[in-house]
Amino acid sequence: MSGGTDHLLAALFMAGVASAMGYPSTTDLDATPRTTVTFDELSGVRFFSMHTLNYSTLLLEDDQGILYVGARGAIFALNSSDVADGSHRTIHWEASPEKRMDCLQKGKNNKTECFNHVRFLQRLNSTHLYACGTYAFHPLCAAIDANRFELPSHFEEGKEKCPYDPARGYTGLIVDGGLYTATRYEFRSLPDIRRNLHQRPLKTEESPLHWLNDAEFVASVLVQESKDSPVGDDDKIYYFFTERAGEETTSFYDKSQVARVARVARVCKSDVGGKKILQRKWTSFMKARLVCYIPYYEVLRSVGSLDAGNWASTVFYAAFTLSAQWRTMEASAVCRYSISAVQHAFEGPYMEYQDSARKWSRYDGAVPEPRPGSCITDHSRRKGYNSSQDLPNSVLDFVKLHPLMFEEVKPAGGEPLLVKKNVAYSQLAVDRVQALDGHYYDVLFMGTGDGWIHKAVVVGSGIHIVDEVQVFRDPQPVESLVISHVQRSLYVGAASGIMQVPLASCARYASCYDCILARDPYCAWDGRACRPTATTASAGLVQDIQSGNKGCRSSSGRGFPTWKNRTVLQGDDVLLPCDQRSNLARAVWLLNGSQVPGAGQDRLRVGVDGLLVTDTLPQHSGEYRCYSEERGLRTLLAAYSLSVLPELPRGPTAAARPHAASQTDGDVKVAYVSAIVALVVLCAVLSAVLLYMSCLEKRKGKYVLGEPRPASVELQTVSANCLRKGRREEEEEEELTYPDGCLRIIPGEAPTAPTSPVKELPTVVPPLPPPPPLPAELTNGVGALPNVLRKMNGNSYMLLQQQEEPLASPLYSASFTEELSKILEKRKHTQLVEKLDESSV
Ligand SMILES: *[C@@H]1O[C@H](CO)[C@@H](O)[C@H](O)[C@H]1NC(C)=O
Ligand SMILES: *[C@@H]1O[C@H](CO)[C@@H](O)[C@H](O)[C@H]1NC(C)=O
Ligand SMILES: *[C@@H]1O[C@H](CO)[C@@H](O)[C@H](O)[C@H]1NC(C)=O
Ligand SMILES: *[C@@H]1O[C@H](CO)[C@@H](O)[C@H](O)[C@H]1NC(C)=O
Ligand SMILES: *[C@@H]1O[C@H](CO)[C@@H](O)[C@H](O)[C@H]1NC(C)=O
Ligand SMILES: *[C@@H]1O[C@H](CO)[C@@H](O)[C@H](O)[C@H]1NC(C)=O
Repeated sequence: MSGGTDHLLAALFMAGVASAMGYPSTTDLDATPRTTVTFDELSGVRFFSMHTLNYSTLLLEDDQGILYVGARGAIFALNSSDVADGSHRTIHWEASPEKRMDCLQKGKNNKTECFNHVRFLQRLNSTHLYACGTYAFHPLCAAIDANRFELPSHFEEGKEKCPYDPARGYTGLIVDGGLYTATRYEFRSLPDIRRNLHQRPLKTEESPLHWLNDAEFVASVLVQESKDSPVGDDDKIYYFFTERAGEETTSFYDKSQVARVARVARVCKSDVGGKKILQRKWTSFMKARLVCYIPYYEVLRSVGSLDAGNWASTVFYAAFTLSAQWRTMEASAVCRYSISAVQHAFEGPYMEYQDSARKWSRYDGAVPEPRPGSCITDHSRRKGYNSSQDLPNSVLDFVKLHPLMFEEVKPAGGEPLLVKKNVAYSQLAVDRVQALDGHYYDVLFMGTGDGWIHKAVVVGSGIHIVDEVQVFRDPQPVESLVISHVQRSLYVGAASGIMQVPLASCARYASCYDCILARDPYCAWDGRACRPTATTASAGLVQDIQSGNKGCRSSSGRGFPTWKNRTVLQGDDVLLPCDQRSNLARAVWLLNGSQVPGAGQDRLRVGVDGLLVTDTLPQHSGEYRCYSEERGLRTLLAAYSLSVLPELPRGPTAAARPHAASQTDGDVKVAYVSAIVALVVLCAVLSAVLLYMSCLEKRKGKYVLGEPRPASVELQTVSANCLRKGRREEEEEEELTYPDGCLRIIPGEAPTAPTSPVKELPTVVPPLPPPPPLPAELTNGVGALPNVLRKMNGNSYMLLQQQEEPLASPLYSASFTEELSKILEKRKHTQLVEKLDESSV
């Protein structure tokens, strides 16, 4: 509970600070994934896993149809059309026992660290791949013949190419045969951007200033600025990382904390270092601060880039998480940067470190020529500077002391595309898709720290999250993401394996409305079904990425739902289930054709999965229709005819029991009863725990159902009165008698489809799950109660009689049982009558 309050306070504080500083409030930028797909609902996915872990390094060769995977102690070559087809090839590359022993003696963990984690895997030339592994804190690299796919007899030293530590931030590229890597290689060494496998190996400068401070690298991107360059510019490699800030920052750090900020740096490909000054060092290193949503989001997690065929159109998408001082919260921000914004910073004024004041400030003095840090262009060549070795000392001295730019790189539009609470994005990949309207849309795939993928389409300066998909059953960070256009797949690497997921699952959208509301640029409606645009002739297809609601003639696709009858006794509660498939849809209920008020009406509560009528009165009878309303489109989802009987027929238990039970004969009955008793005990235990927690929370107001996930949906049900009601019912209970004093539950006629959005919670059906482990999501969430109500009222079970013996389980104390009896008492006659309404029109 206190955790929840902390979060709330922190959120309020953040929102307050944000608006005070003129930043948009985070809620404006929050987006809820339209649909939620849990692991069990996945379709068309393929999973690859062998007897190892950490499938973190992916190299896709789409034209060859091969996905190479660097894992712990192995490299795999998988068929990219189906990673699980069993045709994979394997290179076993384990660290030797001696090196593992050394590693252990260095005090490293032999369960996670003292292995050969393959961290680098790229194409070296037409015949060979290049791979580096941590080799139990003793990095090695190897050129691997891709056809033979076996380890060579000769290895290369890896200590300047690959980090020792498997968890250290690291990025690397092979460009024209040169190996460009950035990391902190050894624990004691300084972070460094290096070039190896090149006649002119280069490093960053360490004195008198460290160009990099405790940098944690995330990504590197080659931008081919030499292509068709009118000024004879050079290709550049951009680096993205988080580092300790030397300069004053706009962040609020308490003094004990060292500010860390996100940065972008770059070097020129043709840099060969200086002659005397900056010998074997970069002469083109420049870095600038990368701002997303200060002062909060400073930890860079992942960067994806795209261009439209020419470098000037390059955009970078970057995912950030909260800075360390907000460690009690989880949240992410996503920003987009244009290459011109980055260049603008690099062309602006420099910062300079004032030794006397011991701080960085803007440098306004004279700047030597050619401009320090720039690549060799035609302009410099005309002046006789053919390479970086020709640069005058004044320029190199200046470079040495001015690695940092004064201007910050600001996101496109001045603000994040997205700020998302309760999510830590760990990876981001980006694709560009041409929609039927002719426009290109950027689609982001964002992997979370707990194994989900959010797919989002960027529309103008906003973002729409099409869905959130749980790709791993066991929560684990998504460590790599690669998109294949040929296979139309996304490969997701994580600790337990590689998951191949289709870029789009259009068939999930069952109606035209559903298909266009999804706003998935990969999908369109063809008149009968929602289909992938890539494989369907575009004539007659309907799609609306811009506004998500135009083009359908009707909500065609689904038939009219069948009418269902419900009969209850006055005073009972009844739930009319109506599952909203979209998290963005609003449920609209019509009673006899006019709208049921959502709020303000005591006895009618509209929730995400149905309409709850409590304490029914005869005037609640009528025809109920449930619609889903989203972006102005209405779809009928369910229709009920509810009859509220004014009073209990005489001898209610006697009347109902024969109906339900007396038809079953002796033996069957016994079997039934024993099965049922088992069920009851389970149900009781589960309900008791959930109820106990919910009721004790005494929380009033809105329920956040179950999931701690950001997409958690809200049920506007106020059930904080469960204790009060329970008590009242307890008093009334005396009037009712139970001839055989036995509580039984038998399966009702209800559809067994789970209506709960709390998909992680076990449903109460055999085989019996273990007693609820009180997962973290329940400790602050009230969530449980409506779920229980739903289960019981949604007709999945019918309660016959109350058992007199206490339903005590050795696991739970008497108070749980008491709570349980209260709720069961309250429910009992409701359920009795439900057997009467099996008829459907
Ligand atoms: C991958 O699998 C597909 C379909 O089974 C097959 O046609 C293709 O040849 C395989 N590719 C490789 C590289 O083995
Ligand atoms: C790890 O080291 C411990 C001793 O520190 C040893 O007992 C254990 O067997 C080692 N595990 C492996 C997998 O080598
Ligand atoms: C590719 O690189 C490897 C390792 O350096 C080398 O042995 C091989 O000859 C190269 N192949 C080509 C075609 O250059
Ligand atoms: C490898 O996987 C294990 C098991 O999930 C995890 O604990 C460890 O952090 C992973 N290591 C790396 C370097 O990803
Ligand atoms: C630069 O290259 C040009 C043409 O290749 C040559 O004439 C000139 O002498 C070179 N300058 C230096 C400083 O090497
Ligand atoms: C709805 O219509 C039914 C039948 O026409 C009627 O019995 C009932 O009272 C109506 N309910 C309301 C709330 O108007």
